[in-house]
Amino acid sequence: MLDEVKNLWPELDWINDSKLRQQTAEVWALALRLSSLTIDDLHEIPFTLKAKDCRVTFMEHKRAVVHMSYECAKIMLHFFGSNLPFDIDTVVSGAILADVGKLLEYDKVDDKAVVSDYGRHVRHPFSGVGLAMQCGIPDKVLHVIAAHAGEGDMVKRTTEAYIVHHTDFKSFLPFMNK
Ligand SMILES: [Fe+2]
Repeated sequence: MLDEVKNLWPELDWINDSKLRQQTAEVWALALRLSSLTIDDLHEIPFTLKAKDCRVTFMEHKRAVVHMSYECAKIMLHFFGSNLPFDIDTVVSGAILADVGKLLEYDKVDDKAVVSDYGRHVRHPFSGVGLAMQCGIPDKVLHVIAAHAGEGDMVKRTTEAYIVHHTDFKSFLPFMNK
């Protein structure tokens, strides 16, 4: 499964810390083992069930968010440097893991993705943290997962969490205007 995860997420290579890179891949492998969705499904199902007629797939959206978060982080480090220190590995790992909990939040019924019974009770920021904790993911990345969505409005986000949160939302809200 880990090899499949590495094919699914070539962006794992952007994580410099080898332990964090491995742990991040293990969270996805764990989620895929527990999910009713397959890797093929992730290339087919819409990235959100909230937007009408959404044709952007789960993986297209997730990878776009990781790419934009990484580029944004590099630009911020270039211009702000020591005036705004943060950890780029945390941004990449957090962006890759932000929606991993959706593998439990969704079910597939008649070839369509629907919200699972579990997902009606436990949204993906929570299940994502639960999965990540089982693989030893550090607290600062858990924070990015926990705070990437609306739930994070209740806490003080770190710089890494702000980057992933705003990137995620600017890749989601415009689809709600359609
Ligand atoms: Fe999310």
